[in-house]
Amino acid sequence: MSRIEAARAILAANDRGGYTVPTNRLYPFQWNWDSAFVAMGWATFDFDRAWREIERLLEGQWEDGLVPQIVFHAPSEDYFPGPAVWGIARTPPTSGIPQPPVLATAARFVLERHGEDGIARARAIYPKLIANHLWWQHARDPDDTGLVATLHPWETGMDNSPAWDAALERVPTETQTEIRRRDTGHVDAAFRPRGVEYQRFIHLVDLFRGTGWDAVRMLQLSPFKVADVGTNAILLRAERDLLALAERFGTAEERDTIASRIARKETVIAGLWDEPLGHYLTRDLIGGGLIPVRTSAGFLPLFAGLHDHAAALAERIDAWRRRGIGLVPSTDPDAASFEPQRYWRGPVWAVVNWMIARGLREAGLDATADSVASETRRLIGDAGFSEYFNPIDSAGIGGGTFSWTAAIDLLLGEEAQR
Ligand code: GLC
Repeated sequence: MSRIEAARAILAANDRGGYTVPTNRLYPFQWNWDSAFVAMGWATFDFDRAWREIERLLEGQWEDGLVPQIVFHAPSEDYFPGPAVWGIARTPPTSGIPQPPVLATAARFVLERHGEDGIARARAIYPKLIANHLWWQHARDPDDTGLVATLHPWETGMDNSPAWDAALERVPTETQTEIRRRDTGHVDAAFRPRGVEYQRFIHLVDLFRGTGWDAVRMLQLSPFKVADVGTNAILLRAERDLLALAERFGTAEERDTIASRIARKETVIAGLWDEPLGHYLTRDLIGGGLIPVRTSAGFLPLFAGLHDHAAALAERIDAWRRRGIGLVPSTDPDAASFEPQRYWRGPVWAVVNWMIARGLREAGLDATADSVASETRRLIGDAGFSEYFNPIDSAGIGGGTFSWTAAIDLLLGEEAQR
């Protein structure tokens, strides 16, 4: 089987009928940002299936515009916390928090490749994307600061990043829900978030469920509240892609609204740059201040089109490469909190690399973009379509046959041909 066939076979094997599970057993439902990347992967060989991925994710959208982190299309005992813990009576059941909003970027990507034949599908999706971006504004930035708030580490997709450690300390470890982790039955506990982090994750779910998933009360009550540089950068990128869709499908008023959100976000995200650390950082919205941990999320303003510090960011990546560190570690390898095997505390994630490489390329830093892209391909080529990779010894870790890793391999494989 060729490499392309192998990647396609993973998407096909993880297809559960119009939606793709991240991997068998460990993640048996539809995840929000996974599906956005996976839709782009499907678009390299099956447009209908690419649109289906997005449409099925949007089956989980709430009336207020939230596109949830997980859509529980079919029951499974393999994952905790399942629908009963979230306590959200919807069909299909969903979780009650968002994930990084890559969706408008994915929809634009699929449409541009599909061309005229994709217009009807994109037109039908467009109002739902508009509603989703309004949700971010109303639910997570009601004061119009330009930065959206994150209330749960799971919302960032980077569950146990050391950037959350100090802010998470404020979250009590008591839970109303009995914790029955399933992940550590599927993969080694040493590679997963720690038990105490899990207690805090579930404490927050219990708290939010207690508000009846009321967006206003969640924002008021949450003891964890940050302006994540990753989520905000991805949202700014998505706003630009939504504007491109609005040029075709929207009204002048919609375009103006999106354009003014973009202008505001450009200014405030630029303010997440920290000169002493030479990196973009997350802001702690309860304690104030920028959180002094360099993570891979801090490269994502490049993907958002902010190029002021592109050369400095590229130089950091180049320096890691010269030291033989696998690109791009999710946490700075020189940080005290760096752990090369533990999930978002060090390992390399292909989807993040794809966004960083794209941002570098758009900033005109082709050589560094090429190293990030070719490193990603090397890791996948050597270790397989793993969930994530150890930047020190290049081992593949977590779930094998991972959908978004396969999707990124298809995208980077094509880009390498050009
Ligand atoms: C983990 C990751 C998250 C991803 C999900 C499914 O929770 O941290 O980013 O979306 O798994 O792959």
